[in-house]
Amino acid sequence: MVVGDDRTKNSKRASGYHTGSVDTVISVDDVTREAQKIAEHAPSKEDIANLARNNPYVIIDNLRAGYGKMEILHDFNLQVGKKQSLCLIGPNGAGKSTILHSIFGFTTIFSGQIRIGEGDNKRDVTKLTSSEKLSRAGVAYILQDKSIFPGMTVEENLWMGGYLKETPAEAKEAAEKIFEKYSRLAERRSHPARVLSGGERRLLEISRALVMEPEVLLVDEPSIGLEPRFIDMVFEILDDLQNSEGKTIIMVEQNAKKGLEFADIGYVLVSGEVAIAGPGKELLENPAVGRLFLGG
Ligand SMILES: Nc1ncnc2c1ncn2[C@@H]1O[C@H](COP(=O)(O)OP(=O)(O)O)[C@@H](O)[C@H]1O
Ligand SMILES: [Mg+2]
Repeated sequence: MVVGDDRTKNSKRASGYHTGSVDTVISVDDVTREAQKIAEHAPSKEDIANLARNNPYVIIDNLRAGYGKMEILHDFNLQVGKKQSLCLIGPNGAGKSTILHSIFGFTTIFSGQIRIGEGDNKRDVTKLTSSEKLSRAGVAYILQDKSIFPGMTVEENLWMGGYLKETPAEAKEAAEKIFEKYSRLAERRSHPARVLSGGERRLLEISRALVMEPEVLLVDEPSIGLEPRFIDMVFEILDDLQNSEGKTIIMVEQNAKKGLEFADIGYVLVSGEVAIAGPGKELLENPAVGRLFLGG
């Protein structure tokens, strides 16, 4: 692989995308540089709309957002239809998590708009707080990791997920529905969460977000830190949530292959802007995506 003269130097400190030998690792800087070249053919708003079948459920228009005074996302656009899934890939620090944070109300929004809803009934949620997003706009954010309380039981963790419900009884009722669906959680309901396997823990993290019965799931790196067999399990759960329960999913995934195989729509994010957008399966075939993110 030809990646430029500074490869050897960079590869030492690279957190690369490839699992092969050091020779095949390319650095985040290299990936960013190459992807910026690709970004010269960035998708138009029309392309973005077409991918959402011109019927978006979540729509982000010309978003500028970041932390404090620092702008991370520049003129960012996103559209995803109801019951569709969208996966963001891209180098470390590109702003993928910042997109999810912005949708959920964790960032400073300088300009632009986030709207959710069907057809003409969209609601402007740009300025809602995270609690309002969860309780009133049907958006749930599934934390990347370590959001489970290990000393609490599985069922107590689920009830916590419903803390914004009107009454604790409603949270418990929603938790029962989840136990009906996921017997592996039901079997462990009285056990402290610390005894769960990695896969079960991730299932609990996802389930806890489901207690609020959201329509839109924001999922940050669901496969991170999991053994391969659990990675497949997590994607099966997400597939079921999308295709059987009709949830709309916006995810970030470092495992670009898994993420793009799963998602209807894929975006490659570089330096806070969309460099490439297409159907997930098409991006898998894209040579530039393959070279930079799929280790091919
Ligand atoms: N809470 C924060 N406060 C300030 N800067 C942040 C914060 N979170 C992320 N950043 C910065 O925003 C940029 C984008 O980060 P992030 O969205 O986490 O990237 P990605 O998820 O693509 O790896 C990075 O430069 C990062 O250092
Ligand atoms: Mg991230």
